[in-house]
Parts: sequence; C-alpha cells; structure tokens
Amino acid sequence: MPFNATFAPVDPSCTRAAASAPETSPASAEGAGGPLPVLGRDVRVPLVTGGEVTYAALDYAASAPALQRVWDDVAAYAPYYGSVHRGAGHLSQLSTELFEDSRRTVAEFLGCREGDQVVFTRATTDSLNLLSAALPQGTKVFVFETEHHASLLPWRAHDVTYLDAPRSPEAAVATLESALHGAPAGPKLVCVTGASNVTGEVWPVRELARAAHRHGARLVLDAAQLAPHRPVSLAELEADWVALSGHKLYAPFGAGVLAGRADWLVQAEPYLAGGGASRRVARSADGGVEVEWHTTAARHEAGSPNVIGAYALAAACRALTEAGFDGLVAREEELLARLRAGLADVPQVRVLSLFGEGADQVGVVSFVVEGWNSSHFAAALSAEYGIGVRDGLFCAHPLLRTLLGREGDAPGECGAPEAAPGSPSSAGEAPTLNAVRVSFGAGTPDEHVDRFTAAVRELVRNGARWNYRTQEGRCVPEAPDPAAG
Ligand SMILES: Cc1ncc(COP(=O)(O)O)c(C=O)c1O
Repeated sequence: MPFNATFAPVDPSCTRAAASAPETSPASAEGAGGPLPVLGRDVRVPLVTGGEVTYAALDYAASAPALQRVWDDVAAYAPYYGSVHRGAGHLSQLSTELFEDSRRTVAEFLGCREGDQVVFTRATTDSLNLLSAALPQGTKVFVFETEHHASLLPWRAHDVTYLDAPRSPEAAVATLESALHGAPAGPKLVCVTGASNVTGEVWPVRELARAAHRHGARLVLDAAQLAPHRPVSLAELEADWVALSGHKLYAPFGAGVLAGRADWLVQAEPYLAGGGASRRVARSADGGVEVEWHTTAARHEAGSPNVIGAYALAAACRALTEAGFDGLVAREEELLARLRAGLADVPQVRVLSLFGEGADQVGVVSFVVEGWNSSHFAAALSAEYGIGVRDGLFCAHPLLRTLLGREGDAPGECGAPEAAPGSPSSAGEAPTLNAVRVSFGAGTPDEHVDRFTAAVRELVRNGARWNYRTQEGRCVPEAPDPAAG
C-alpha cells in the first residue's frame, strides 16, 4: 500500500497511528482497577459559594467524556485526514483505508456475523430512523412504552403495538410473547433497549430475541446505553440489528452505527439519495434519470461521510476491548454498590426502578428526593458542589410517568412544595414530572461518587446554601448580590 511506505506513523494494518503515544493508552496508563483516562478529568469549575473544585462529570448517559486514547488516536490521524472513496490522492487513499478499516473494527466489536453490514450514521436516533425507513411494506412493529424516544418514535409510519411497562425481565419476555402470539403473518420487528437510560436496568435481550424469532419477528437492539458498559455481540445476543452512538461510547465526533442483517437494508430505498450511495446514474430513454444503487453499506451513507467520527468510534472500540470489559464491569459494579449504599443512607431519596431490588444494572441511576424539585436539586449539585448530573424526563416521558405514578407535564418551580416520592400529586403540591439522573462509566474516579453521595446527604439534611430561581423551566442560581461584598 503506498501510504504504508510513505507515512511511517501508520502501522501496516492501518488501524492505528503510531504517533498515538502508547504511554497514554488506558490499558497501560492507569493499570488494572483504576478509571480510564478521559479528557476533562482535571477541569476545575467555580462554585457559587466561592472557590472551585475539580468537575465531577456524572452525566455519562447523555454524553460520555472522550477517552484520552480516542483523542490521541484522532489527533495522530488528523494531519492525514482526506476525502474518502473518490480521491486519487495519497491521503484520500489512506483515509479510505482507515474508514473501511474502522467499519471492520466496529463489526468485530459488535460481534457481527458473516454478511452483516455496518452502516455509519450520526447516532442511535439516526440509525433507528434509517432502519424504520428500510422496513418492508406492512411491517408490524412492537415496542415497549419504556423506550427512549429514539427507539419509541421512529416507527410511527408503520403499524406499531406499544407494550406496557413490564415489572421484571421475565414479564418483558412474557408480554412480548403474548403480543406476538396473536400477530398476523408478515414482517415483524421488535425494538428493545439493552439498558434503560432512566433506571440503568439491563433488559433480557437474548431471551427477547429468541421470543421474537419464535414468532417470525426480528429484533433491533438499542445499545446506546448498554454498549458503553457491557460487551454487545449480535451473534451472542442473537439480535438482528444493533444501533449505538459514538458520543456515549467515549468518541465524541458525531458518528453512530446501525449494524446487522443486510437483506432488508439492501432491498430498501437508500436512506438519503445522493453521491456515494449510487453506483451508476444515467439519463433514461424517457428523459428522466435511472439509478443503480450500491448494495453495500454505502447504499445508506450518501454524501461525504464523517471519517473522523468513524475513526474515533473504532478507536473507542479498540480501547474498550484492550482495557477489557471484565475489569470495566467489575469496577463499575463496585462504584454502583458504593453509590446505591450512599443513597440508601438518605431515606428521603427514592431510586426509580422498574424491575426492583437485585436487577442487573449499569452505571445509570435516577431518583427523586422528598420535598425537592429535581431541577432545584440538580442545580444545587452543580452550583454548590461542582457535580454535573441531569434532571428532567430523559426523553422517556411514558416511562417517567409510569415510574413516578404521575400524569403531570410540568417540571415544577424551584423551592415549590413537592409531592412525596411515590405519591400522586395532590392539592397544594406541585404536579411535577421530573427526576435527577446520575450516570458514570469507565473514566469515573471513586471520589466523584463519594462526593456525590456526600452532597446528596448534605443537601437533604441542611438544604441549599444558595438561592435559586426558575428561568425558562429550569432552576438557576440567583446572581450573587453585589451589595453583599
Ligand atoms: C437508550 C437510548 N437510546 C437512544 C438514545 C439516542 O441517542 P442519540 O441522541 O445519540 O441519537 C439515547 C440517548 O440518550 C438513549 O439513552
């Protein structure tokens, strides 16, 4: 290959630039048991009460910080970046090779089977919309009401059956079985999330896939929250497709993936029409234009692809594989136990759970606090403790309603009286519908979890030390009073 000879920094397998400083590799840098190095781990933030602290990023479920290793790999490749697929130049060839190699790396990471395709997309939402657009005419779709909106909403152009929230993994399988049992013949798709972005609970994906297959249905796995925490293999889970987002997998450059069975994808109209998806375009005898579309993943990747994003995603797959999921999972479970014990110490906190005590769970925990508006609580964690969590409905409105047992829509006002956790709102109480979510992952040090649980305890015991006001539906700290000196 010409680029190997010329660009010494690129190794012959074209998978990694040697300039990506091996000392910064997470597998070697922090050693077994510690957090993987991530960007922003030393960022200091001001506290509204004075002074500053190291930022505790505990909102991994929204977007995880970039692994240092991913950043280094991208930085090493960036000077060689070029257009892919059509350029004759040296860097175009190199970039094409790296782009296609990234596809192979992702395929391996996701346990793709012979004949599966890996389509690069923008993120999970895009992947699931792509699959929805590719479903054969007349496909019936089955989806639990508990899904993130990205996996709940894309199917609305089809005949969708919404399934009630199950209260155990076994109930999920039974609910699906009975829904599929009466379904008529024809193409059917089940869409299910691997780990909830609200409760962190892990769903019985393989059992659901088997149930789907028993009834002639296929299954797409939304692995946006599962893949950053657990190994995800299409082959082992027996799923037909998987969708995920790079920015939740420590690769924040705007790429996602839809991977899985090729047949429906190659039979479908391209997701976007344009260059790259078409093999041949010619004027037709009737004066129009006839197109021959690719039958590879390129069919659904029209336009110039996000080469850096795909490269970063593949770098994250390599980094996580090298770090080893056994160690990552063990460490995460320790952190989760620490966090749950800390929250259990505060009786005013109610952790939200669908499957109940003992459920298998990744590092995502949502809760409400008696007497507190969730937006107020999250604002105080940020402003007074330098801890970044999330509050709201987490793009899973039906699930939040089920978990909170409330019908309202309003997020509530800071400081307004709140209904007790678990009880429906009554007169005089704000009919709020929101919660706090704390989430973490491979880069989280113990100290962040400890600081978080200590802050929860302190806030509940002593209240906020600052005043907050509602601004555009969110609680924000009042500006300091200049007269107070
Ligand atoms: C379970 C789940 N699915 C899908 C999505 C959508 O991901 P994206 O916004 O990257 O498309 C999210 C995002 O939070 C999620 O948590």
